[in-house]
Amino acid sequence: MEKIVIEGGFPLSGTISIGGAKNSAVALIPAALLADGVSTIKNVPNITDRDALFDIVKLLNCDIKQDGNVINIDTTNLKNVLINQELSVKLRASYYFMGVLLSKYKHVEIYFPGGCNIGTRPIDIHLKGFKALGAKVTKRKHKYTIDASNLVGTEIKLDFASVGATINIMFAAVYATGRTIIKNAAKEVEIINIMDFLNKMGAKIEGAGTDTIIIDGVTKLHGTEIEVIPDRIEAGTYMLAGALLGNNLKVTGIIPEHNKALLNKFDEMGVNYKLEGNSIILNKCENLVATDVTTEVYPGFPTDLGQPMSVLLTQANGTSSMTETIWENRKGHYPYLQKMGANINLENQTAIIKGKTILKGTEINATDLRGGAALILAALIATGKTTIYEIDYILRGYENIINKLSDVGAKIHLEQI
Ligand code: EPU
Repeated sequence: MEKIVIEGGFPLSGTISIGGAKNSAVALIPAALLADGVSTIKNVPNITDRDALFDIVKLLNCDIKQDGNVINIDTTNLKNVLINQELSVKLRASYYFMGVLLSKYKHVEIYFPGGCNIGTRPIDIHLKGFKALGAKVTKRKHKYTIDASNLVGTEIKLDFASVGATINIMFAAVYATGRTIIKNAAKEVEIINIMDFLNKMGAKIEGAGTDTIIIDGVTKLHGTEIEVIPDRIEAGTYMLAGALLGNNLKVTGIIPEHNKALLNKFDEMGVNYKLEGNSIILNKCENLVATDVTTEVYPGFPTDLGQPMSVLLTQANGTSSMTETIWENRKGHYPYLQKMGANINLENQTAIIKGKTILKGTEINATDLRGGAALILAALIATGKTTIYEIDYILRGYENIINKLSDVGAKIHLEQI
C-alpha cells in the first residue's frame, strides 16, 4: 500500500498535458465487444479503472494488445460467460457489459457494479430501458440475469438524464429490431464519443449530445478505430491547481467548450487565466471573489468537479457555497478540509465555505476519487506536510497524477506504508 506525501506552497509552472477521458474510455472499452473483429481505441488513459475493465474483457475471452495509450481489442473468440462479483465490483462501469452482451447475445449474467461510495447508485433506469426493449431481468442477491428472445426498438423516456443509462440503452438498442428513441437522454460530451465509435462500427445513431437519441437497429457491426476525447474533469482539476498556485501554468490538450461551466465560475471569481487554442494558462490570484456553485447535468457545472472546486472556494474572500445535486454523498472530503483549517459548514447538500483560510498540512484520507483529488489540491496549497492515505481511489481515475504535478513544480511523491 502507498500514501501520497505533499509539501505544500510551491508554485506550479510549465505544462500539464491532459489525457483521454475516463468516463468515455470506460464505455468505449466494453463497446468494442459489440463489433466483430479488431477495434482500436487511442488515447486510453492509464488508470486502474482501465485495468479492471481489461480483466473483464479477458474473462470474456477477447484479446487485448496495448501499446502505450493505444489498445486493440479482438473479439474473434468472445465467450459470453458470467462476469463474477470480484471483477464487477471493481468499478462502476462494469455495468456497460450488461447493455453490450444483452445486445449481442440476448443474454447476460453479471453481478452488481462497484465504484466510489458517493451515493446509493441504483441502476433502475438502465434496467427499465432494457425491459422496454423486451428483456427480462432476474435478480438473485447481487446477481443479474438479463435475457431476451428478441429486442425491439421503442421510445424510452428516462426518469433522469442518467449518463450510464443513456449509454447502456444505446448499446442494447444497436442490435434491436427497428427504431429506439431515447428521450430525456443525458447530454454529456462523452456520449458523443461513444456514438461516434458505434457509428464507425456501422451503427445508425443520431442525436448524442442532445436530449433525444435515435438508434436504428443493425444486424452487424465491424471493428474500427476511435480516439478518446480529452478528460474535461482531469483538465478542470489541473485548471483549479493553476488558479490556486499557477505561475504561468499551462494546461494543454483541452477542449475549452467542454469546461465552459468552470470557466464561467473562474470569470465570476476573478481567476487569472488566458485561453490559447486548446491550452489554458493560469496564474495564482490573491483576490478571488466568493461565489455560489451548484452541480448540474451537462452543460451545467459538473458534479465531478464539485469537490475540487470546493478547495478554490476556501481561498475566495467572503462566503461561498457548493451545492451537490447529482449524488447524495460527495461530502467525504469536507471533514478533512475542516481538519486542515477550512471554515466549512455542511447544510444537507450544501457546503457553506467562508474564506479565505490558510490550510495546514496534516494526515488525511481520500474517501473517493474526486474527493481525493480535492485533498491533493488542498495539500498543494497547505503549509507544511500533508499525508494522504487510501489513494487507490485517486489512481482509479487520474493518469500519472504524481508525475504530472511534480513535473510542474509540486513537491509530491508516493511512499510505501
Ligand atoms: N440514477 C438512478 N438510477 C439509475 C441511474 C442513475 O437513480 O439507474 C441516479 C444516480 O443515483 C445519480 C444520478 O442518477 O443520483 C446520476 O447518475 P448517472 O447515471 O448520470 O451517473 P453514472 O452514469 O453512474 C457517470 C460517471 C460519474 C459522473 C456521473 C454524472 C462513469 C463511470 N461515471 O456516472 O463519474 O459523476 O456520470 O456525470 O461514467 C467520476 O468520474 O468521479 C464519477 C463518479
